[in-house]
Amino acid sequence: MTSPQASCLRAALQVGYHLLDRGSSSPIAVEHTIRVLERSGLFNAGKGSLLQLDGVQRMDASIMEGDHLSAGAVASIEGIIHPITAARLVMEETDHVLLVGPLATKFAEYFKMERHRLRTLPRRLSYGTMLKRKRFLRDRHGTVGAVALDQTGTVSAGASTGGIDRMLPGRVGDTPIIGCGVYADNQTGAVSMTGWGESIIRLAVAKEICDHLAQGTTPATAARLVLQKLVARIKGSAGCLVLTPDGRFTIRHSTPHMMAGWWNGKGEPTAGDRLQ
Ligand code: GLY
Ligand code: GLY
Repeated sequence: MTSPQASCLRAALQVGYHLLDRGSSSPIAVEHTIRVLERSGLFNAGKGSLLQLDGVQRMDASIMEGDHLSAGAVASIEGIIHPITAARLVMEETDHVLLVGPLATKFAEYFKMERHRLRTLPRRLSYGTMLKRKRFLRDRHGTVGAVALDQTGTVSAGASTGGIDRMLPGRVGDTPIIGCGVYADNQTGAVSMTGWGESIIRLAVAKEICDHLAQGTTPATAARLVLQKLVARIKGSAGCLVLTPDGRFTIRHSTPHMMAGWWNGKGEPTAGDRLQ
């Protein structure tokens, strides 16, 4: 596949793999892989984030590593290119897990994170109009994520998103919620989710997949069982990346397509929109 998105995915996979190959930790590899996707403007994350109904881009991101179960996240952050780096800084520079809204933006400003000019809608809607429009809310995929395994055997997961189409201002999805959009534990595996956040949150999907792995279920079966439950119980829709500390992985989605890729350093990186 040779779409701009597929080319960008391959470039991102190369960045992440080369970092791991040179001995970087898996959170650093996950962060830098996601940064390529955020910067491209080709996905619903970073520069390419969707607008909320008041015309503002507000972004969510999170990262978690499976050795100490450290995690960091930001929600409703504005005006920066790399929310995933803000999440990594929350993980490493604070005792907290999640910072939100203008004060998350202020945190990013303190660390002099690269800014970008916000895209805005030409007109503003009344709150009543926004409330009506949000009923047509549907998931539109494009959230970006990554999982990685480093040379010390630590798995990590990260995700970054501009949210979903036609969301109310202030809406936050699964991506910055640990256990929902991402989870990583060296005793089970690393999971990164994309899809309709409101459904993913209600089943705490990333943690649920890890709980299946803990019982000895294979990544493919764990992912299939949880995605089937998501569809059957709440008509949800999602896709996932799952990687275990012994290097088994799966890419699965309940939607017809999910752009994704993988690379173990041999040959060319694989990228496609129907890998399962
Ligand atoms: N933007 C919603 C998703 O892909 O998860
Ligand atoms: N999965 C991303 C979102 O719903 O915001």
